[in-house]
Amino acid sequence: MNLDQLNKTAEAMTKPGKGILAADESSSTIKKRFDAIGVESTADNRRDYRELLFRSTDAMRNYISGVILFDETIRQSAMDGTPLVRIIADTGAIPGIKVDAGAKPLPFSPGETVTEGLDGLRERLKDYHGLGARFAKWRAVIDIGERKPSYAAILANAHALARYAALCQEADIVPIVEPEVLMDGGHDIQTCAQVTEWVLKEVYQQLYYQNVVLEGTVLKPNMIVPGNKSEKRASVDEVAERTIQVLKRCVPSAVPGIAFLSGGQSDEEATAHLNAMNRIGGLPWKLTFSYGRALQAAPQKAWSGKNENVAAAQRAFSHRAKMNGLAALGQWQNELEKKAA
Ligand code: 13P
Repeated sequence: MNLDQLNKTAEAMTKPGKGILAADESSSTIKKRFDAIGVESTADNRRDYRELLFRSTDAMRNYISGVILFDETIRQSAMDGTPLVRIIADTGAIPGIKVDAGAKPLPFSPGETVTEGLDGLRERLKDYHGLGARFAKWRAVIDIGERKPSYAAILANAHALARYAALCQEADIVPIVEPEVLMDGGHDIQTCAQVTEWVLKEVYQQLYYQNVVLEGTVLKPNMIVPGNKSEKRASVDEVAERTIQVLKRCVPSAVPGIAFLSGGQSDEEATAHLNAMNRIGGLPWKLTFSYGRALQAAPQKAWSGKNENVAAAQRAFSHRAKMNGLAALGQWQNELEKKAA
């Protein structure tokens, strides 16, 4: 393990003004996204779409620090034969890879899951490093509901995240540690805060037990928001303040950076929340984005599978990447949204 290199990579992933593009949708998730825009989910269409994103030079060079890929994509080449990984690396962004095998039902814990994928992970990480990946992602999912989450689910997921993170560091790959507390449901913001605090405390305990070096990690958490069916909405400032409060209680300052998931927030909410947090300032870690939907919804809609829309889709992606890049510096303003493509 080269800790100095791991730390440099983690710092580069959360470099001020830049964030991560999560383009690692599994085959079933990308099919859902393509269904919504009337595009058939074939390997060629998935390649064309992702190539469009990675060739968005303005976004990639100026606002994107790294890209999380799915197994299929890290092995794919562009239309002209250039490996997609090369296109990404040539923009200065770092290629990364999703390595978990998805959330599977947890026995005796109705409605809860544990993320699988540890078997054979050491060998797969070696393979991915050879293909150019310098960081990885593993997503644990925690659901809030009646009698949920259970300690069984929190512990099993935190333990798996720590086992994964240790294997990554052994392979000189920075682990993105992603414990996502879902925003699905009618719970209030206080419940999200309490559950997230519990989950993060357990995650950092397990990372310690597995000897993971925090300087070579990036955390990818949810923000503290009310459930999407809750009638009590929260202001941008409340989300920012509560999120910072929970992170300060749980995340050691040895962690170089935190890159949030968007989790189903609207594009502008995700940007405004990140911006408000960075405005608070005086934080021990960098705060940036690692968005999937909040970066890709606009370009997907603009593209809609048509060649003649590629430039418009790239403009839409660049716009969202720029807005989030500004939010990562606390320099975003609502008025800037009007200049959208
Ligand atoms: P969203 O930003 O769409 O939540 O996706 C980020 C991600 O990578 C989830 O694992």
